Amino acid sequence: MTFLSCASCESFSVSAWISFSFVSLTGKNLPGERVCDRDVFAWTKLAAECQSAGYSGTLIPYKCDLSCEEDILSMFSAIKTLHQGVDVCINNAGLAHNEPLLSGKTDGWRNMIDVNVLALSICTREAYQSMKERNVDDGHIININSMGGHRMVPSADEHFYCATKYAVTALTEGLRQELREAKTHIRATCISPGIVETEFAFRHHNSDPEKAAAVYESIKCLKAQDIASAVTYVLGTPPHVQIGDVQMRPVEQVS
Ligand SMILES: NC(=O)c1ccc[n+]([C@@H]2O[C@H](COP(=O)([O-])OP(=O)(O)OC[C@H]3O[C@@H](n4cnc5c(N)ncnc54)[C@H](OP(=O)(O)O)[C@@H]3O)[C@@H](O)[C@H]2O)c1
Repeated sequence: MTFLSCASCESFSVSAWISFSFVSLTGKNLPGERVCDRDVFAWTKLAAECQSAGYSGTLIPYKCDLSCEEDILSMFSAIKTLHQGVDVCINNAGLAHNEPLLSGKTDGWRNMIDVNVLALSICTREAYQSMKERNVDDGHIININSMGGHRMVPSADEHFYCATKYAVTALTEGLRQELREAKTHIRATCISPGIVETEFAFRHHNSDPEKAAAVYESIKCLKAQDIASAVTYVLGTPPHVQIGDVQMRPVEQVS
């Protein structure tokens, strides 16, 4: 899922972010598949819950397979038609497949590249173009990276995933440089968590749910809320402040 906040606002603050309309992009594919088979029922339900809880923003689910460029471009086109454009793009979707360098399947590697690297880059480009055509100069692109984008863990089932996250580190800094050269004040940030308790490990170790559960039971992990708090902090900083990277581990995490 990637979150896009849309052009229902003029400038940023944490409270503005919370009250933005945003689009939730969801979909999934298996390695090598090009067909998006996920329905958006869970997100539609969440959107209704947010509305009945009285939140001022609007969650708009949009089905999109981020490993398919046509899907991404269609989504940006729909956003333009329905919401004018994108002011904040949070590239959150990402995944790991258990495919070591010496024996892994190419399809698994390709899917990690497609989602973790290419989709992030395509969404970034499209979000920037959307900001540029509407003269939005205070936009923000936030990439959800990983501590795996900064150091290699000695675990063969994560090596290729780490390589894609090292790419996210490079892409975020490259983006910062290009935004500056283009004389914009649009900001580029990555957030690099250690272990967060989500569905990630269960998808990574999908043939071994006990191994996945053990990941989250071994230490007191970060929660999704901790990452959301980092995002709101980054968005809430004054316009002249650019946070390049937020590295955050559980206190009990070893590496
Ligand atoms: N959990 C951790 O320990 C951890 C640590 C460091 C960094 N991260 C990073 O945090 C980000 C979020 O991961 P998570 O922990 O929240 O894992 P998660 O619970 O497995 O969520 C992954 C998200 O990526 C989406 N996604 C995957 N492939 C997609 C595709 N082809 N098209 C559209 N959406 C796709 C999934 O959408 P569906 O649900 O529709 O499939 C889901 O929303 C990732 O970038 C991950 O690398 C996680």
